[in-house]
Amino acid sequence: MIPINAPQIGEEEIEAVIKVLKSGILTHGLGAGPMVKGFEEEFAKLVGAKYAIAVNSGTAALHMAVVASGAKRGDEVILPSFTFVATAETVVMAGAKPVFVDINPETYTISPEEFEKAITRRTKAVIAVDLYGAPADMKPLREIADKHGLKVIEDAAQAHGAMYNGKPVGAYADVACWSFYASKNMTTGEGGMITTNDSELAEKLRLIRCHGEKQKYMSTLVGHNYRMPEIEAAIGLVQLKKLPGFLAKRRENAERLTAKLWGTENLQLPKEQPNCRNSWYLYTVRLKEASRYKRDAVVEQLRGKGIGAEVYYPWPIHSMPPYRKFKRLNLTETEKASEQVFSLPVHPGVETDQVDFVAETVLSLI
Ligand SMILES: Cc1ncc(COP(=O)(O)O)c(C=O)c1O
Repeated sequence: MIPINAPQIGEEEIEAVIKVLKSGILTHGLGAGPMVKGFEEEFAKLVGAKYAIAVNSGTAALHMAVVASGAKRGDEVILPSFTFVATAETVVMAGAKPVFVDINPETYTISPEEFEKAITRRTKAVIAVDLYGAPADMKPLREIADKHGLKVIEDAAQAHGAMYNGKPVGAYADVACWSFYASKNMTTGEGGMITTNDSELAEKLRLIRCHGEKQKYMSTLVGHNYRMPEIEAAIGLVQLKKLPGFLAKRRENAERLTAKLWGTENLQLPKEQPNCRNSWYLYTVRLKEASRYKRDAVVEQLRGKGIGAEVYYPWPIHSMPPYRKFKRLNLTETEKASEQVFSLPVHPGVETDQVDFVAETVLSLI
C-alpha cells in the first residue's frame, strides 16, 4: 500500500534521540529544556514569528490558544465544520460554544462572508484552518475580526511551509497553532507549537503550558501539563532542517499529479490561489456531481489497488453526536465537500513512478 502519509525518519533523528537519552535531561519542570528552547527559536525563525511555545500536541496548542483568547463559558467562537475535530473540541474544552460556518468550495477554507454573518455580541474569536495545507483567506478575516474586536486563531496544523501574501501562514493571526503528529509535513511523533508576535499572549501561553507556574509550586493561573519532552524537540530540530526538502518533494509530486489529471471531466483538482503557496499536506480531489456512495466506492477501489486514498473528512463536525447541539449557519458547501472529496498520497516517500501509477489508476476508475 502507498500510504496517504508516512513519517520520514532517518539516522539523524535516531542519533538526536540517543543524545538526549544519554544527557539525562528529558524534560524541564517549568516547560522548556535546552532542546525545547532551541526548537522554539528555530521554528519561530521558520515562520517569521517573534515567539514560539512548544507543546505536546496540536490539540494542546489549540486549547491554549482558545483559552488565551479569553473565550470562556457563554462565549462563542466561529469556525468551519469541515476540519479535524480538534479544532472544535478545544473550543468546548475551554467552556465556550463553537459556531459552525461554511467554506469556500474551491479552497475548502472558512468563508470570510459567512464568518461575518455569524458574529454576535457573544463572539470572542474566529478559528481559520489551513485545510490540506492550503492557506485560509486571512486578510479579509483579519479585517472583519478587527472591525468587531475579535481574536484570530489560525489552525496551521497542516500548513508548515505554506505561504500567504508572501509570508508564512500565521502572519495575520494573533496566534497560529501547529501540529507535529506523525503524519504531518514534519513530525516529532506527537507535538505542537504556538507562534505569536504578541509578548503578553506569549507569556500567558507559557504559563498555561505548565500549570500556570512561573516559579515552581506557585500557580498564578489555572494551566495544564502541555510541556513538550526534550526527545521530541530533538527530533523536531532535525526535521526542521529537512523540511525544505520534504516540501519540495511534496510539491513535485502534487504538480505531477495535477499535470496527469488535468482536464478530467467531473474531477476538481486542488489549486493554489494566486497569493498562496500550499504546503501540499494532502492532495485532495473532488468527484463533482458524485454521491457519498460513489465517492466511497472509488476510494475502496483505489485501496484495492494498493493506493492509500483517504477521505478528509467524511463527517463534518456539526454532524457528530457531541457537536449537534451547537449553533450553525447554512453549511451546504461543507456537506457537499464531505461527500465528494478524497485525498491521494503525495508525501516525500512517494516515488515518481508511484505518482504516475496513482494518476493512471484514478483515470482508469473514473
Ligand atoms: C486541522 C488540524 N487541527 C488540529 C490537529 C490536532 O493536532 P494533534 O494531532 O497534534 O493534536 C490536526 C492534526 O491531527 C489537524 O489536522
